[in-house]
Amino acid sequence: MKLKVLIKEKEIKKRVKEIAEEIKKDYKDKNPLLIGILKGGVVFLSDLIRNLNFPHEVEFIRVSSYGSKSISDGKIKWIMKPQMEIKGRHVIIVEDIIDTGYTLKKIYEEIKKEEPLSCKICVFLDKFERRKVNIHLDYVGFRVPNFFLVGYGLDFNEKFRYLKDIRIIDLEEKYE
Ligand code: IMP
Ligand code: MG
Repeated sequence: MKLKVLIKEKEIKKRVKEIAEEIKKDYKDKNPLLIGILKGGVVFLSDLIRNLNFPHEVEFIRVSSYGSKSISDGKIKWIMKPQMEIKGRHVIIVEDIIDTGYTLKKIYEEIKKEEPLSCKICVFLDKFERRKVNIHLDYVGFRVPNFFLVGYGLDFNEKFRYLKDIRIIDLEEKYE
């Protein structure tokens, strides 16, 4: 079985460092709250925070999309809401990939209801060709073409999250 490499581990590491530098410039003295979206965002978030050498805090949330597995339709269900107080915090939402944008948009709206001082979005991969909603992304790792991608936290049916590179999966093939 072969999964074609799209972004190599080395490039990923370099880019994560650059994003961390950008975040540091913007938030150095603000003690931001980074909210990672489970499960996919966990690998990116953990690499990111190890490059943030200034005070910040971390929280996780988990949602699931209703309906078809591969196409989200804008409805999300909370599986794990934020436990930490968001009101008055500088929040950065951290996600693995944005596709249609429905998931992040909904999460963003829900977080805004909690009255953070500010709320920005940091996404590792941007499948920009597929966007269905208007959403502003503050930090983007890589803009990627419209393939189904796995690795670096991204899964296909819960598999391949552990891969160190971002790889393209051929959905026509069968995988064990
Ligand atoms: P959206 O609501 O359409 O933007 O979907 C975003 C979610 O779909 C992400 O958080 C991922 O969980 C999942 N997703 C979208 N594209 C991919 C992909 O290429 N590989 C793995 N998961 C993906
Ligand atoms: Mg996700």
